[in-house]
Amino acid sequence: MSKSLNYKQLFHLLVFILIATSAANSQERIIENFNKEWKFARFGAMPDGSILQEPENLDEAHYDDSDWRVLSVPHDWGIEGPFRADLPNQTGKLPWAGIGWYRKNFTSPKSDAGKRVFIEFDGAMSGTTVWVNGGFAGEWPYGYSSFRFDITNHIKVGEENTVAVRLDNKEESSRWYPGGGIYRHVRLVKTNPVHIAHWGVFVTTPEVSKEKATVHIKTDIENASKNLEVLHEIFTKGDNPLKVAEQKTKFIAEVTIEIANPKLWDLETPNLYEVRTTLIQDGKPIDNYVTSFGIRTIEFTANNGFLLNGARVQINGVCQHHDLGPLGTAINIRAMERQIEILKAFGTNAIRTAHNPPAPEFLDLCDKMGILVQVEAFDVWNKKKLDNDYASLFGAWHERDLRAMVKRDRNHPSVIMWSTGNEMIELREGQDAPIAMMLADIIKSEDATRPTTFGNSRPEGLINGFQETADVHGINYKPHLYEEFHQANPNIPLYGSETASTVSSRGEYFFPVSENKNEGSGGYFQVSSYDFSAPNWAYRVDIEFEAQDRNPFVMGEFVWTGFDYIGEPTPYNKDKTNLLNFTNPEEKEKMKVELEKLGGNIPPRSSYFGIVDLCGFPKDRYYLYQSKWRPDLPMAHILPHWNWPERVGEVTPVFVYTSGDEAELFLNGKSLGKRKKAPYQYRLRWDDVVYKPGTLKVVAYKDGKVWAIDEVKTTKKANKLEMEADRNIVIADGQDLSFVTVKISDNNGLTVPRTHNNVSYSIEGPGVIIGIGNGDPTNHESFQANQRKVFNGLALVIIRTKNGEPGEIVLKAESEGLKASRISIKSISE
Ligand code: GAL
Repeated sequence: MSKSLNYKQLFHLLVFILIATSAANSQERIIENFNKEWKFARFGAMPDGSILQEPENLDEAHYDDSDWRVLSVPHDWGIEGPFRADLPNQTGKLPWAGIGWYRKNFTSPKSDAGKRVFIEFDGAMSGTTVWVNGGFAGEWPYGYSSFRFDITNHIKVGEENTVAVRLDNKEESSRWYPGGGIYRHVRLVKTNPVHIAHWGVFVTTPEVSKEKATVHIKTDIENASKNLEVLHEIFTKGDNPLKVAEQKTKFIAEVTIEIANPKLWDLETPNLYEVRTTLIQDGKPIDNYVTSFGIRTIEFTANNGFLLNGARVQINGVCQHHDLGPLGTAINIRAMERQIEILKAFGTNAIRTAHNPPAPEFLDLCDKMGILVQVEAFDVWNKKKLDNDYASLFGAWHERDLRAMVKRDRNHPSVIMWSTGNEMIELREGQDAPIAMMLADIIKSEDATRPTTFGNSRPEGLINGFQETADVHGINYKPHLYEEFHQANPNIPLYGSETASTVSSRGEYFFPVSENKNEGSGGYFQVSSYDFSAPNWAYRVDIEFEAQDRNPFVMGEFVWTGFDYIGEPTPYNKDKTNLLNFTNPEEKEKMKVELEKLGGNIPPRSSYFGIVDLCGFPKDRYYLYQSKWRPDLPMAHILPHWNWPERVGEVTPVFVYTSGDEAELFLNGKSLGKRKKAPYQYRLRWDDVVYKPGTLKVVAYKDGKVWAIDEVKTTKKANKLEMEADRNIVIADGQDLSFVTVKISDNNGLTVPRTHNNVSYSIEGPGVIIGIGNGDPTNHESFQANQRKVFNGLALVIIRTKNGEPGEIVLKAESEGLKASRISIKSISE
């Protein structure tokens, strides 16, 4: 061995030998993680606002990238910031636009000879072009699609190879924060020339009963030859997989296998199975492929709602954009899982992936956690909403993107409908119904087991022929038209594809309380949490609840939105604010001055729509949904907080959200009266409470019996920091996360509302702080820092473990004038 070999080279050599030997021993498919050790550089629009000329020849193998940054993907370059006042707030005031290059060297072992080699991207934002050793390997512009390129002919077997990826994010291409970069996983897949095609196994369950299910498996083979056999083995999925059926035949594309006493997939017990497929040639296995699936039936009815396994399930859904709050768009499985846990906690059972296909792992989680999903393809078709949006690609790419979406996701039991798009201009204008039908046909040709749908925001689209172009009709923000639509189209199943769009900031309340939806803004670009505010096209939560209850033929709703997301800070959207939003003349004057000072570049950069904020902390609305969507959970919630030293003697309305049917409110032990919910009433109100400090207590009843109790107290002054981790034990795999909630408390441990103290953090042990947030939509502090203000008493610190380094992680929080806090998290080997 050469003396000059350093540790790094030695390491590469070892990895090479390992890969080469394992590959040589295997005749079957090899899947290699391709996420690590990329070189990265940005050009064009730079984060600081300057322009850096993109050099030539970046695609070539010999280009000197030695001074580029080394990183792993998934990666989102936009979330690194900084927030810039001059950037559009519709996309989060973050520098996601511009050109990004990723380059990676890899060794192709000798055993690659004779193999097909593919590079697979689960998604890259956006305008991807890929070269291998300087040769063009392929392009895929849509940032939300998964795709792969066959790079066999570009690879030099037994040598070093270079892959170069160029991404180009155009300004004015998205109505929300899209992120930037290779933000999902990448892998190399190596197969024999005869192999199972990309997404080549399609499993359906045409007959399902308690006694048996038929499992239909369709297998596509590339370069199929004679003497092929195929073995399908079906296992239960989980900790102790059990084989429940198998079949080996001479290769035929479609087989049917029976399973006795199948365990059905449903929301409470999301049982899963997997088919392990082995392709055999001349008695030798030459490829293997694993497909996860579930056994369930879905039915969409025009009169009786949505049926899962024959029983009605009201769709209590939310729309979700794809960002993960302070982590941006770079996917992380634990972060997605936490989002779903939070959504489920207030009763969500369905998610619409607005307005694009999600990461594949997101659907794996929905399968596992019992969530129904509507997967959506596009936000526009041929007619643009923005200058550089998908409309410019639609003609050339819609078919490839749509097929990629359906083929990738059609085995997930969680997926129940395919949406061809959201509020398309064509649909508003009543033109081009043929496009809608063509898209539906493409979907049907890949999967005829699920209905097509779209989100329709215009009454014209309900009657101009468009209503015939999808199997199931989704109406955005028109609860008053449900009945009319149903009468005119008695055979079309109907649901609210986007509802409410109520806006609020966690922990903010403005007085006097106004029920006018255009009012309720105040403070520094915040929106009141009395839950009456909504943009012009939208309305408060209760109106949708009533429409759903009065029209039981409606299958349910998808609220806009579950989580706050980065971008689209309506009512402070597009760098212009609506001064009329301020009820209080003093606030209005203050805001005018502020606006002049800011020169129009107002700070809001993330949405106010969420039922929970950008960190996942519940807003009051969380409890309103919970009271309706989890009627069997005893709960009551009082709003607002009770720290109003400046309001002593003033009317300060108190609302209660409860799953009970009546409630009695007490202030400092004195009853303020009992209120009972009237039909179609969803919140209980005490509008004339005169503020004095102390304790507000509510006792909620159901059917005359005490059902739930809640209490809100005026706190003492801020005294200490407290921290709580969602999980104190995490896995040392370099991926797992602990989400630590930071609270500012008084000496009794009560969270002190209206606190905005600056807190700094230090970490010891095998963990890194990868994100920090507080849920304030106006905050421009970096998401990637070790200090930040809390927002109304709370902040979030996200810690990632280090791969292969178990041990104790200690996070310390300090803030001037407050007792410091320390939390210990154990990182353990898998
Ligand atoms: C809808 C649109 C969503 C979002 C929402 C905000 O019309 O489909 O993408 O913009 O309005 O209320």
